[in-house]
Amino acid sequence: MPRLLLLIPSTSYRVSDFVSSAHRLGVDVTVGSNEAQVLESISNGGTISIDFKETKLAISTIEKFNKKYPVNAIVAVDDMTGIIAAKASKRLGLLHNSPETIRLTGNKLLLRQKLYQNDLPSPTFQKIKLHDNPRALSSKLNYPCVLKPLNLSASQGVIRANNTQEFIVAFKKIKKILLNLKMKYETKILPEILIEEYIEGEEVALEGVMINGKLTTLAIFDKPDPLEGPYFEETIYVTPSRKSEETQYLIKNMAEQAANAIGLKEGPVHIELRIPPKKESTNDKGPCVIEIAARSIGGLCSRSLEFIDGLTLEDIILNHALGKPILPEREKLSSGVMMIPIPKAGVLERVDGILEAQATKGVKDLTITIPIGSNVLPLPEGNKYLGFIFAKDKTPQLVEHILREAFSRLRFIIN
Ligand SMILES: Nc1ncnc2c1ncn2[C@@H]1O[C@H](COP(=O)(O)OP(=O)(O)OP(=O)(O)O)[C@@H](O)[C@H]1O
Ligand SMILES: [Mg+2]
Repeated sequence: MPRLLLLIPSTSYRVSDFVSSAHRLGVDVTVGSNEAQVLESISNGGTISIDFKETKLAISTIEKFNKKYPVNAIVAVDDMTGIIAAKASKRLGLLHNSPETIRLTGNKLLLRQKLYQNDLPSPTFQKIKLHDNPRALSSKLNYPCVLKPLNLSASQGVIRANNTQEFIVAFKKIKKILLNLKMKYETKILPEILIEEYIEGEEVALEGVMINGKLTTLAIFDKPDPLEGPYFEETIYVTPSRKSEETQYLIKNMAEQAANAIGLKEGPVHIELRIPPKKESTNDKGPCVIEIAARSIGGLCSRSLEFIDGLTLEDIILNHALGKPILPEREKLSSGVMMIPIPKAGVLERVDGILEAQATKGVKDLTITIPIGSNVLPLPEGNKYLGFIFAKDKTPQLVEHILREAFSRLRFIIN
């Protein structure tokens, strides 16, 4: 039986969806995680602990493991493990992206530079060092702009500034977030902040799989809540997109060009794009890539997608990793997910209205992912959601309505 190695940080939501998928596909699965597994020695290759912070050590652990339990594919479930999967797969001669490509997806500045060099639509951008004085630069910038750390995710530390004062405040906030992360988690932080021109327009997310450098689009999600800052919390994703055929064609085209520009050849992609409103006076350059991740959609959001024959997004990703053909056709109903944002900082004491929200017609599932009693932190400092609501119905409009209705029945008591 083929063996699949999944690299999943212990903090990831996604272990069970991937492991269930591997079982459904009938392959042996090993979960590689950064937490020592109590039962590792008797798990018959089912688990392996890997130090994700030490890339070289992680690769040699995987090589040793492979001698005893030969691995047919390595799949990284998130950004943190992507580089290890790429390097280890290369070493073992398995399907992989170049580690350099993965490095670009993990650093927003390098990604911007690459897209710009390839002449793809891009905001103007520059960087500022954490120890620089923001005041000096602030008067030279065009506003509005967006400031962001180079390698965080879930919109943590992404802030819009409309003028010099807001720029300085945003800079200080991001600096504090980064220094805090360094102190608390001893994480390597990149000591720079990216400053980008603010791109107006509606945003979409494209979920796809790269196969030999060609993009197969699995879904385009509309994001019907405006994302205009100052912080950019994700909420509702609905698919299929309500954008015109022409716009969807442009989105897919731009997504593929961007993936090719960074050299992404194989495996899942999650690409966020903005579609600037058409302006008669300027050259209309079409959709602009905000971000490319060499992984599938984050959190539990993949559960909002179902493909024909009951296949999940994870099934498609794992089939592709194992060199099997994929069947990317989605089932007919529209579907969507709402990531529930954290409204304020404090302790999550209670969630009321869960049953009422679950009973909303069209709601397929509702999961609160933060344990009661935990501290919660909103954007821009936080990087988590309270939970996820999933809905399905005949049209994207109905799905959006159901998600809003279900959300309105929830009450979060945070003190
Ligand atoms: N230049 C920009 N112009 C307009 N909006 C932007 C710009 N850059 C970022 N944003 C907004 O901020 C959001 C988060 O930015 P970005 O995707 O770069 O960060 P992130 O933390 O990596 O998010 P994630 O990893 O969860 O996708 C984007 O989805 C977009 O709504
Ligand atoms: Mg993003």
